[in-house]
Amino acid sequence: MPISGDVYRQIGRAAAGAVSIVAVHADERTAVIGLTVSSFVTLSFDPPLVMFAIQHDTAAYAPIVTSKTFGVSLLSADQVDIARLFSSRERERARTTVFSMGPWLQVPLVPGSLAQVECRTSEILMGGDHAIVIGLVEGANTRDGQPLLYFARQYGAFTPLAGA
Ligand SMILES: Cc1cc2nc3c(=O)[nH]c(=O)nc-3n(C[C@H](O)[C@H](O)[C@H](O)COP(=O)(O)O)c2cc1C
Repeated sequence: MPISGDVYRQIGRAAAGAVSIVAVHADERTAVIGLTVSSFVTLSFDPPLVMFAIQHDTAAYAPIVTSKTFGVSLLSADQVDIARLFSSRERERARTTVFSMGPWLQVPLVPGSLAQVECRTSEILMGGDHAIVIGLVEGANTRDGQPLLYFARQYGAFTPLAGA
């Protein structure tokens, strides 16, 4: 490894990110699998593409990368409990109670989130121990509010700088 694991983890801690839940249907739509991610970003305007990265060894990996569609919910600052739930092993138990179904692709979405994005999986690229999942956006909803952010292993909200 060209740098130590500690240095790499420090880079991760220095990179602030918005927190989202990626969710898919599994087991012939009898189950929903959700995962907390901070790697979601918009990728392309035309066509409208978004992407996120998922670790190979997470239990959610196989259902998420094999799903033809997925939902992304950008969490608001008051949804930290949902972020904690879907990054923990407890997520299996609560998964059916949290989600509503999107109007365009019927993908699982978190009610009350800042943005709800409905995607058709368009490409999966491999990047080290993660897969990069690219989705074509076929429907979306947004609302005003404060985003949930993650920085230096802590959750927080956005504070604009005075005069900036
Ligand atoms: C704020 C935050 C952001 C995360 N972002 C990602 C991510 O972008 N991709 C990913 O694969 N896992 C991410 N994780 C980790 C997963 O949510 C989950 O904790 C991890 O995959 C462990 O899964 P397991 O219980 O199946 O081992 C993130 C966790 C947190 C708390």
